[in-house]
Amino acid sequence: MPFDFDAPVDRAGTWSSRWERYAGRDVVPLWVADTDFRAPDCVLAALGARLAHGVLGYTLAPPELREAIAERMQRLYRWRVETEWIVFLPGVVPGLHLAARHLCPPDGHALVPTPVYHHFKRAVTLAPRAHSDVPLALRDGRWVFDEERLAASVRPKSRLLYLCNPQNPGGTIFTRAELGRLAAFAARHDLVICSDEIHADLLLDAGKAHVPIASLAPEVSRRTVTLASPNKTFNFPGAGCAWAVIEDETLRRAFSADHHATVHDASLFGYVAALAAYREGDAWLAAQLDYLRANRDATQRAIAAMPGLSMAHVEATYLAWIDARGLGVADAHALFLAHGVALSPGEQFGAPGFVRLNFGTQRARLEPALARMASAVSSTRAR
Ligand SMILES: Cc1ncc(COP(=O)(O)O)c(C=O)c1O
Repeated sequence: MPFDFDAPVDRAGTWSSRWERYAGRDVVPLWVADTDFRAPDCVLAALGARLAHGVLGYTLAPPELREAIAERMQRLYRWRVETEWIVFLPGVVPGLHLAARHLCPPDGHALVPTPVYHHFKRAVTLAPRAHSDVPLALRDGRWVFDEERLAASVRPKSRLLYLCNPQNPGGTIFTRAELGRLAAFAARHDLVICSDEIHADLLLDAGKAHVPIASLAPEVSRRTVTLASPNKTFNFPGAGCAWAVIEDETLRRAFSADHHATVHDASLFGYVAALAAYREGDAWLAAQLDYLRANRDATQRAIAAMPGLSMAHVEATYLAWIDARGLGVADAHALFLAHGVALSPGEQFGAPGFVRLNFGTQRARLEPALARMASAVSSTRAR
């Protein structure tokens, strides 16, 4: 078998954020969003070759990587990106913060969809910028924008609209039509769009396509900052490489104000890993998606069989967003932890009563974790 995602991996002692918190305890940690899979061999070989050189000095953003990104955006999304539109970053999270600080004036206002990856909210809170949470709605089993709520949230000082596509934690791949309506809304209110597309390559539903919002039309591109990275897709978030694609020069300059000051370059290791992944990683990625799809299906089946829990179908990402309000317990995260499974608490994403489960792990670990969750659920019914 060329790619073996079942191969056991022991991450103890590797300073893993996800694993260290519960070290020494009988807890399956399915919270932080990285996977338990080794990065593709092409990535590991490229890193090894770079290390063998031995000098790890200050490093320019590789022109080859700029070209590989532009080529990939054209090939996968028919999105024309000029290499000079790319601003490298050590991570997508700094990009969320830079958008809040530099693309929204101090007296401006931002719109933040919720539930959402917690750093969106942190970015506007720490900047600090006034903001409104725009609740997504569950419609036909998908977490989508509620356009009435969106329209009601906009203010005269609104300048920035955040988007997470595919959506973490909801797992939605927004359609071209949905994005078109969002872009029209942004144009009507003259908003800059900050679109985090880090999960773009993790599409689990065959036949559904990722559409970068900036690819819709030149006028949308000119008001958009797209944040991206291969670090989720190929599982090297510890290597530190991400970027923003910003066509408009004024926006790009404003966004880049902290570069070589409070914001460092991407890491040398991140550049090397990203280039290898984009050049040679696609077969590994296709195999990983097959594996994740089966994990998604197993998770959906198991959750559907647990009374009091429900989840939307996960179109993309390796994250299941589970509604635990039907259990009638005060703290679902604590309940599952007491039964040996660490999930992310919904509060973190702005939605108490929910939990998020990371199914990016070996099936031999996922299945017992789901069984533990089932016994946690049964325990609530025995009371
Ligand atoms: C939507 C989203 N954006 C950004 C990140 C983190 O990006 P980075 O590690 O490149 O800062 C995550 C990680 O879970 C994420 O889900």
